[in-house]
Amino acid sequence: MQWGKTWLDQKLNRGNLDDQLCASICREFTEVHGVQFFDTAEGYGGGTSEERLKDVLIPGEKQSHGAPHVIGTKFLPTLARWTHGSFARALRGSCQRLGVDAIDIYFIHTPIHPLPLEHWVRAACVETKAGRIREIGISNCNAQQVRRACAEAQKHGLRIAANQIMFNLLCFQSPELQETLRACRENQVQIIAYAPIGQGLLTEALTDEKFSKIRLARMTRLVMDELQDLRSVIKSLADKYGKSMAQICLNWTICHGAIPLVGTRSMQQAQDTAGCLGWRLSAEDVAELDRNALKRSTLSKPRWKRVIFVTFITLLVFGYQVNHWVDWLQSKWRAISPWQRRQADCTVETAMYVCCLALFLQAAVATATPFVTRAELKVVPGTVDIVDFSTAHSRLYIFMSSVRWVSAAALYLGVCIICAHLWRDTDQPVWVILVMHLGTYFFIVHFCLFLCVSLRQLSNVNMMDAIRTLTTAKDTVSICPMLAVLFIECWVAANDIRTPAGLPGVPQGFAQDYMFVATWAMLMQLIVCLVNGFVYTLPKDTNSKVMRFCGNSLRGGLTAISIVFYLTLVTVYASILVVLVSRYTNTSRAATGSGAWFA
Ligand SMILES: NC(=O)c1ccc[n+]([C@@H]2O[C@H](COP(=O)([O-])OP(=O)(O)OC[C@H]3O[C@@H](n4cnc5c(N)ncnc54)[C@H](OP(=O)(O)O)[C@@H]3O)[C@@H](O)[C@H]2O)c1
Repeated sequence: MQWGKTWLDQKLNRGNLDDQLCASICREFTEVHGVQFFDTAEGYGGGTSEERLKDVLIPGEKQSHGAPHVIGTKFLPTLARWTHGSFARALRGSCQRLGVDAIDIYFIHTPIHPLPLEHWVRAACVETKAGRIREIGISNCNAQQVRRACAEAQKHGLRIAANQIMFNLLCFQSPELQETLRACRENQVQIIAYAPIGQGLLTEALTDEKFSKIRLARMTRLVMDELQDLRSVIKSLADKYGKSMAQICLNWTICHGAIPLVGTRSMQQAQDTAGCLGWRLSAEDVAELDRNALKRSTLSKPRWKRVIFVTFITLLVFGYQVNHWVDWLQSKWRAISPWQRRQADCTVETAMYVCCLALFLQAAVATATPFVTRAELKVVPGTVDIVDFSTAHSRLYIFMSSVRWVSAAALYLGVCIICAHLWRDTDQPVWVILVMHLGTYFFIVHFCLFLCVSLRQLSNVNMMDAIRTLTTAKDTVSICPMLAVLFIECWVAANDIRTPAGLPGVPQGFAQDYMFVATWAMLMQLIVCLVNGFVYTLPKDTNSKVMRFCGNSLRGGLTAISIVFYLTLVTVYASILVVLVSRYTNTSRAATGSGAWFA
């Protein structure tokens, strides 16, 4: 039962089933049809499939027509696991999720681990002797691996009860499968057949679209045409017996002495699947199906494929772990009480104080550094405010730079906390959104410039192109704080006005529009600045203060980039003018926020 519940399952398994449907399917199998064996794995849905099985097979009611349920689950040998301890931990986890003290049959999911299979069989034997496993199973093992696993178990006086492999009409003729069946027979290992209906490839419901989505078809490089003969034989037998194609395939599996495992996804499929019980195909019909079977086995994987597979599985498990953490964090966040929310607000307030203090410390250290370290300062050619220090007291200089770094880190951390708080609340007044945007542009540019300047001072990296580009960007965004002040002031002034309904006013609709226009134009200007700096070669003219738009990008006439820059510049100032005019012309009737120019 690959009934995982996470978003990863949603992606990998054509959508998740809901709890109620899973419970009904289980009840249908156990109570109506007396099905006993349920298969799951810690790898299915990162353990959520096991949890689900525990929920649907209620303890105490674990009876199918008087016989106890048998639950099989699997150990996944990922690259994060190397010891018997990790095997024992995985087993404990499965027991916990299934709500049992011992697992009826515990499979080693797949022999892909770099350590030999015997290592894991030994671990399983230890746990069996300790009573936490009733029977040991292996899965996806070929003939050689079956023999090795059985030999190892025998050394401990135990046996391998079953081998869970792909067993269906798509692979029956493959020599690897035939050899594996022989090895299992010799060692009395029961075959448990997964994908008995080829993940839907051998049912009436198959369509071209569905075919392209079935993993097994991709894994075995099957093309639709190769299936046609086999499908028509199954279909004719289905008509002969008055059964569905799925029932024919499942009955064929049973006739070969294997136990079929079906991935059921609906009540209708459950009822259909159960219809494979209580009757038998004739020996001739089984033989006809055998003759028409294909040879698409998945049992012989070359070493490189196993390496890719184990890496993929390990990453998948890691993905499930991340998914677990995210779910856990989300549940904690949802459970946060109003009191804790107040604590969060306190954090924001503290962050504001930290920002102020860090700013003060940074300014103080930056001013004191040249005096304390007796540094010689040299303005970097081509800039006005970038200075290189040369000092004999290099240790002291590094110490003071570190203090500056720590205070800068505190400042930007504070900024991030405040931003996160503001962005989290989507129901913000317009002015908060605008201020947030402007603040973000301003801080990102200053932070990047700070990084580049510090790197230049602490190492031998030149970085002048980046510094000049960012200095120009800094000049561009220097207007952002004043723009934010203008917007806030406009809002405060509008708030003093009462609307006809007696409510506090807001700026006119068109004024709000132009606040947005100015903000977006600022962003555009900033992007143009960065593109100009990083895409075009910078002027080598060291006399120029900073890299300007009259650099190389303008050489030879107006370039597209400078046109955009000046257009956005004009847009910013035109918008400011509109906002200023609106601020002095706002009236009680206009202060409702109506009259937007852009819908
Ligand atoms: N040990 C391993 O490495 C391993 C690997 C794979 C699977 N398994 C086990 O084997 C089980 C079954 O394997 P599987 O799900 O891959 O393949 P499967 O049982 O051959 O195919 C399942 C798919 O067939 C369709 N289906 C199910 N019952 C049907 C019915 N009565 N009539 C028509 N279509 C039906 C459903 O697809 P639609 O809903 O799309 O029609 C379902 O998703 C798994 O649940 C898992 O427990 C083990």
